Amino acid sequence: MVRLILVLTFWLFSTVIYPTPLVIKFNHVVAQDTPKGKAALKFKELAEKYTDGTVVVEVYPNSQLFKDREELEALQMGVIHMAAPSVSKFGPMGIRDFEIFDLPYLFPDVETVHKVTDGKIGARLFKKLDKKGLRGLAFWDNGFKHFSANRPLRKLKDFQGLKMRIQSSKVLEATMRRLRTMPQVMAFSEVYTALQQGVVDGTENPISNLYTQKMHEVQKYLTLSHHGYLVYAVVTNKKFWDNLDPNIRNKLERAIVDATAYEREIARAENMAALEAVRKSGKTEIYELPSEEKEVWRKRLIPVHKKFAEKIGKENLNDVYELLSNIQ
Ligand code: LMR
Repeated sequence: MVRLILVLTFWLFSTVIYPTPLVIKFNHVVAQDTPKGKAALKFKELAEKYTDGTVVVEVYPNSQLFKDREELEALQMGVIHMAAPSVSKFGPMGIRDFEIFDLPYLFPDVETVHKVTDGKIGARLFKKLDKKGLRGLAFWDNGFKHFSANRPLRKLKDFQGLKMRIQSSKVLEATMRRLRTMPQVMAFSEVYTALQQGVVDGTENPISNLYTQKMHEVQKYLTLSHHGYLVYAVVTNKKFWDNLDPNIRNKLERAIVDATAYEREIARAENMAALEAVRKSGKTEIYELPSEEKEVWRKRLIPVHKKFAEKIGKENLNDVYELLSNIQ
């Protein structure tokens, strides 16, 4: 009997008592009908199902609660419980290692991206989040990024002098400078207006983002450059997550695993559908960069890799190169 009382007392004081239902606020910056938007809703559906409704997930799309930088600050403070920011956005909190995914022309295909995210490199990157009070739960992805602008982008010289919106990544900044453009960090929620008003001339993103933010209405030219890949880190507040009832946490982890499989399944199709819709709109001229020209662009941009080897971690870069050499 004494043992039972001791175990119960320990349990009571070691597990923060959350209200029932427990509400999880999941904020993100993209439209609902994108790979990330749909995956967040899938996580909501599965988390509520697996916990028999003892957990309720409130999804806030399109920067409804917080936009880019504020989203991560809110997560660190526990004001929101989950987010899935682009890995290009951890630099301002002092973690540049995730910018490995921003290196131009690094990944030949999504399978290689998954080998990095789901292997020792992904695990090493998530470890970096712990000291910032965050816990990495999964990597989601969107698709290859392409350039858009209000002038045709067919040769390197076409970029000269353009103001290009980027995410808050030093690798992306260096990439844009190699293209002789002026990079401008801006929250995703502000990009459409900035393009419409000419504050910036162009940007880069997967097509699902370009289309769902209606950027094709304010970008006359789209070049399918496949120069980068957009990866997301699904993250939670570490204290919140560690204090969950273990039984609940296990069910939420299962919901994350299943939502991740779903997200990866739909990402490619979502981007293909978005490209078709942009083509049908007739508002943007779509140019498929020929492979010989792509090689010229790759050669111009590849020095960015070496320049950032220190910042993103030589071990990470060497591991990716080794992985790439094994598949070629
Ligand atoms: C961007 O800011 O361009 C993207 O990261 C938005 C997103 O989360 O897909």
